[in-house]
Amino acid sequence: MSSSLTVSLLLVVALADPGHPTRRTLRSRLNPDCDETCRGRNVTTLHLSADGPNDTLHYLWDFIGNPSVLLALTPPSTSLNISWEDYLARRENSVHFSEKPTYSFGMIINKIIEFNDVNDTALIDTADIANMNVLHLEYFNWQRVSLTQNNDFVYLNMEGNSYHDTAKNISRYGSIKLSLRGFCTLDHADIVPHMLHTENSTQIDIILDNLQTNETFSNSRFAIELLMVGGGDPDILMFVDPKKSLDDEHTPGIFEIVEVRTPPYRELNGALNGGAYLQWRPVSYNSALRDVTSSTETMQYSPKRISKYTNAVKNSMLYCYYGNATNLLLQKLTISLGSKGDGFYKKTNYLTWTFIIGYGTPPEERFSSLVIMIISIGLGLPLLIMVITGLYLCIRRMPKQHGNVYLSR
Ligand SMILES: *[C@@H]1O[C@H](CO)[C@@H](O)[C@H](O)[C@H]1NC(C)=O
Ligand SMILES: *[C@@H]1O[C@H](CO)[C@@H](O)[C@H](O)[C@H]1NC(C)=O
Ligand SMILES: *[C@@H]1O[C@H](CO)[C@@H](O)[C@H](O)[C@H]1NC(C)=O
Ligand SMILES: *[C@@H]1O[C@H](CO)[C@@H](O)[C@H](O)[C@H]1NC(C)=O
Ligand SMILES: *[C@@H]1O[C@H](CO)[C@@H](O)[C@H](O)[C@H]1NC(C)=O
Ligand SMILES: *[C@@H]1O[C@H](CO)[C@@H](O)[C@H](O)[C@H]1NC(C)=O
Ligand SMILES: *[C@@H]1O[C@H](CO)[C@@H](O)[C@H](O)[C@H]1NC(C)=O
Ligand SMILES: *[C@@H]1O[C@H](CO)[C@@H](O)[C@H](O)[C@H]1NC(C)=O
Repeated sequence: MSSSLTVSLLLVVALADPGHPTRRTLRSRLNPDCDETCRGRNVTTLHLSADGPNDTLHYLWDFIGNPSVLLALTPPSTSLNISWEDYLARRENSVHFSEKPTYSFGMIINKIIEFNDVNDTALIDTADIANMNVLHLEYFNWQRVSLTQNNDFVYLNMEGNSYHDTAKNISRYGSIKLSLRGFCTLDHADIVPHMLHTENSTQIDIILDNLQTNETFSNSRFAIELLMVGGGDPDILMFVDPKKSLDDEHTPGIFEIVEVRTPPYRELNGALNGGAYLQWRPVSYNSALRDVTSSTETMQYSPKRISKYTNAVKNSMLYCYYGNATNLLLQKLTISLGSKGDGFYKKTNYLTWTFIIGYGTPPEERFSSLVIMIISIGLGLPLLIMVITGLYLCIRRMPKQHGNVYLSR
């Protein structure tokens, strides 16, 4: 009995070990060093730097052209310099770091794809071209809704409205809401699905709100295509790893987490390093409440290599940084929203997707103190009952023996 007590105590101690969370110091600037040029235009380029003891992680969030994110790891006290005239004209090499980053990686939210899911499979790879419409995010009119910056986090909320595809002369009503959040330490985000983030990661939340669907499509669903650009061996495909998670305490009903790792990159000293990752819970909510009853699933597809620079890169901040660089990793990743039998997009005209983009090791969920308490009670209570029953039996037996002795006298 004492050994099982020791085991359960050890288990509790092992599960409770919180590790040593590291902290980075956040600094953020909107449109850094852009005065006259940016004043007349609704430009949103946010530079966030997260200083650690030995290095700085820079993030650049940009909403000119296709929304994109750049992540760069540099030596400490490296500064960022944007040549605004060139930057706004989307010219190459208009973004500089004063010291060359040891690693950099970028992501473009490239397309929203509407597909007509005639047979309710919820899979975009079974739909044919005639049953698909592509929306390019550069054709939305992007407005900054709010920006909150303090020592612990930076929140940027953007909204894209009044879609107008100038090439095809197609307009649509509805909006895309993008929330980007940068953090300084390991914690859970406050919005459902409460993703766990590290000091090295940014959370991106996408809401497709009342987006007009194609009237010739009876069963419209949406998918999101991301374009990944940057460091890492371009010949190796990104690694997609859906895994079961320990518990659903933070995301009720969802026991899975999907991780995408970029191929490793070679450091200056020759060592291989893991690079960047994406992480999400395969859940999408069809109402702003984001409760269990309003959840549906997401589905990811194998990454695909892109052989040459596309217009998507050319019309994004990543081109300003990488220019015509060759030997870059260039892959696309598609995620569709919705699952079989969920009533399609038309059910509520609202869908969300939340993911984390970060550098280093993706965080692993640990048991929280609440779960540990429940486990301890689960293990401890039977033990306690056994001890009490044992004591009770002993005590009850004793006076009986006494009585017997008394009677036999
Ligand atoms: C900038 O945004 C504001 C609202 O946030 C809008 O009223 C204004 O027309 C926009 N200006 C341009 C040049 O797009
Ligand atoms: C920073 O560098 C020092 C000395 O090289 C090392 O001891 C320390 O572990 C490093 N800190 C982090 C967070 O990497
Ligand atoms: C930024 O870069 C431009 C062009 O490379 C240079 O002229 C300028 O002095 C730099 N500014 C800073 C603050 O480093
Ligand atoms: C839908 O199902 C029908 C009948 O099973 C099949 O002929 C058709 O090709 C399917 N369509 C798609 C887009 O999968
Ligand atoms: C609806 O889809 C059809 C077929 O793909 C396409 O020709 C048409 O332009 C689409 N309409 C809109 C408004 O996107
Ligand atoms: C674009 O479409 C609108 C209606 O959808 C039409 O009134 C307009 O003439 C079109 N413009 C061009 C250049 O085709
Ligand atoms: C990069 O590519 C563009 C278009 O392909 C070209 O106009 C430009 O000169 C190239 N720049 C360099 C530095 O090669
Ligand atoms: C965060 O990035 C630093 C790089 O400086 C790395 O040493 C550390 O392991 C990363 N943390 C996590 C949790 O991945």
